[in-house]
Amino acid sequence: MTHTEEVIRLYYEFVMPNYSRVPVVLVRGKGVNVYDIEGKEFLDFFPGWAVSGIGHCHPKVVRAIKDQAGRIIHVSNNYYNELQGKLASKIIGHSFAGKVFFCNSGAEANEAAIKLARKSGYASGKYEIITMEGSFHGRTLATITATAQPKYQEGFGPLPGGFIYAKFNDLQSVLSKVTDKTAAIMLEPIQGEGGVNVGSEGFITGLRKICDEKKILLIFDEVQTGMGRTGKMFCYQHYGIAPDIMTLAKTLGGGFPIGAMVASGAIADVLQPGMHASTFGGGPLACAASLATFEAIEEGGLVEKAERRGRYLHNRLSLLKKDFPFVKLVRGKGLMQAVELDIEGKAIVGKCAENGLLINCTQERVLRVMPPLTVKNADINKAVGIIAEAMKGVGVAS
Ligand SMILES: Cc1ncc(COP(=O)(O)O)c(C=O)c1O
Repeated sequence: MTHTEEVIRLYYEFVMPNYSRVPVVLVRGKGVNVYDIEGKEFLDFFPGWAVSGIGHCHPKVVRAIKDQAGRIIHVSNNYYNELQGKLASKIIGHSFAGKVFFCNSGAEANEAAIKLARKSGYASGKYEIITMEGSFHGRTLATITATAQPKYQEGFGPLPGGFIYAKFNDLQSVLSKVTDKTAAIMLEPIQGEGGVNVGSEGFITGLRKICDEKKILLIFDEVQTGMGRTGKMFCYQHYGIAPDIMTLAKTLGGGFPIGAMVASGAIADVLQPGMHASTFGGGPLACAASLATFEAIEEGGLVEKAERRGRYLHNRLSLLKKDFPFVKLVRGKGLMQAVELDIEGKAIVGKCAENGLLINCTQERVLRVMPPLTVKNADINKAVGIIAEAMKGVGVAS
């Protein structure tokens, strides 16, 4: 039995089978590379679903976690810890005037946003939340309901009420769903799991206008798009508007679990003691990791690099269209890029993994390519070469 098989055997016996997993046991990571238990090296162009967004084991993050773990690991939220306020101020400094609530994941951040929107609208009878078809907001009951894709909801009913679905990038569709009970409109500015669907300028600015006119909260789920991924620190900054509420997770902790909800103006003070909480939220280890992540992004000029390297990646991926007729479209912003295919992408992803490149396929036909912000052009060349080789294996190059 190989080391890999030994590890997997325990999973079969004792771990719930709720994930489909690539048969690779990852034991070490450094920057854009990860290594499996057999010693094989991979280029990681989908690092932990964008969690390790500044690369694996960034030295600043590793140092911060080690230092903090030696002092105090957990401080509950009925006391103060030294770092939570610093991190909140850092997030606000990079986004919009407001306040931050900390939790541990994207779903929790969205759950908090949903609760805040409902509490804000409570006195005026507003509780409906409009979300977008093809969205993804997490796996709690409320967030699978916000996630307007039946496959995530099937068998888990009855689902919480008050979620209304509209078409992404269709302002009229959203407008037709607004009622006097609408508390919020919630969306990812670029839908990740939904296929890297980029919100159009007209759609995003139009939503802001609707929300202003009708006194509706605009919630951006930036769990995947945040922290420099799209070539701005937060994706909303591409559009010259700001949401009222923004949720973050994934890269926020540089690999360490942390989630956050940012709220602006008066709504930032709606949640008073006793109304919402998280035992682990904003603990010292998570805050130390996140502060180090911000430092790495700032000092490394990683937002600007994501924009530049993203353009390079986009151009390189676009060249695949010339050789492979089943490559329909390359789209995305910054280092959040996707290759839409006319065929299923699973075999290509599998071939890439065999040849030392980790990417993802979503919605059956969309390859998601999201390397760390620290990626170099040489890594991109190598990765696109592996993708091209994998494509040769599944289709006929023209
Ligand atoms: C846009 C978006 N929101 C929310 C989530 C849920 O985050 P988590 O898995 O940390 O709960 C995800 C996860 O992929 C996501 O991509």
